[in-house]
This record gives sequence, C-alpha cells and structure tokens, in this order.
Amino acid sequence: MEGLFGSELVSPEIAASLPSGYTLRALQKGDYEKGFLDCLRVLTTVGEITLEQWNERYDWMNTSGKGAYYLLVITNEVEKVVATGALIVERKFIHNLGKAGHIEDIAVAKDQQGKKLGLKMIQALDFIAEHTGCYKAILDCSEANEGFYIKCGFKRAGLEMAHYY
Ligand code: ACO
Repeated sequence: MEGLFGSELVSPEIAASLPSGYTLRALQKGDYEKGFLDCLRVLTTVGEITLEQWNERYDWMNTSGKGAYYLLVITNEVEKVVATGALIVERKFIHNLGKAGHIEDIAVAKDQQGKKLGLKMIQALDFIAEHTGCYKAILDCSEANEGFYIKCGFKRAGLEMAHYY
C-alpha cells in the first residue's frame, strides 16, 4: 500500500536494526485499522476520530500537505502500530530559503517502551530531515523527557512559549 511519502526516505539502517517482524514505514491510510490512534493516546488526548474524519485529514496531508508532512510508524509482527513520530518540514525565506524540521508527536506504545523504539524513531526522522534538506530539526518536550532527547543527541536551545486557543 502507498504511504504518505516514498520509501527512499525510510532509513534502511534503522529499518534493519528493528526487532524481527517489526517494520518502519510511512503512515498509510489503512493505519486507522492498525492502532495508530491508540498508539498516539500514550502521548495525549486524541478524541474519537471517525474513519471519515481520518480519511479527510490523511487525504489533506497527501495533497495540500505533500512535501511537508512526514509521519512514520513502526509496526510489530502482527502489523499493529507500536510507535509513531512526525517531521514537519517548514519552508523559510531566511537562511537562503532554508528548511527547518519540526519533530512532533512521538509516541511508543506503553508495553513497547524501553526497547529503543523511541530512539530509532527519532533517528529515522533525523534521516528524513537530512534527506529533505533541512538545516536543523527542533522539538518541544517536557522536563521529564529531556533525558530521552539528550540520549537522542539533542541539546537544550531556547525556550518554548505558547498561546493556547
Ligand atoms: N528520561 C530520561 N531517559 C529516558 C527517558 C526519559 N523520560 N525515556 C527513555 N530514556 C532513555 C532510555 O533509558 C534509553 O537510554 P539508554 O540508551 O541509556 O538505555 C534511551 O533514552 C532511549 O530510550 P528508548 O528505549 O528509545 O525510549 P522509548 O522507546 O521508551 O521512547 C518515549 C521514549 C518516546 C519518551 C516513550 O517513553 C513515550 O512514548 N512516552 C510517552 C509519550 C511521550 O512523552 N512522547 C514524547 C513527547 S515530546 C514530542 O513529541 C516532541
């Protein structure tokens, strides 16, 4: 099945390093049935999203959002989604029309945490950032997750500020 982006952006090294039966790939429309939203629920509130709403958002990402939305999943030996992460590629005017990668919505299913799937997800998103020409990748996280991102090679830079609507 076709995914949101081509397999050339899926790191072969990371894919090969996963446990046997696990697959790293682009998000596919069929992932609604494979537990994608449940995987995200370990991160935050998702809401009750119908198949119709899912299809609408997926189709938007695959057309208007093409080239900007890179959502990855890791599935297990029974094709259930056990980890996910997103890279949003922002096109700028500054830095000679530079591109900045925004890492968002990293989630590893509760019973799969601590097996380096989170680390591999970040490395796989870094691969996409590099191969789509980003000059940097940035993310926001809680203090509780700082140690994880340090293990992934990130360092503190700046301060997050927010308006919620
Ligand atoms: N604090 C400090 N170190 C950590 C933490 C933490 N919270 N979590 C993992 N680590 C360490 C591990 O011990 C491991 O260290 P080691 O190499 O010395 O053994 C290393 O980081 C890699 O850990 P993984 O096994 O890859 O971590 P995991 O697969 O459990 O994924 C994650 C970590 C993504 C934080 C996961 O626990 C999770 O999904 N949590 C709930 C959702 C969440 O908080 N997501 C991140 C939100 S921020 C954002 O999306 C940008």
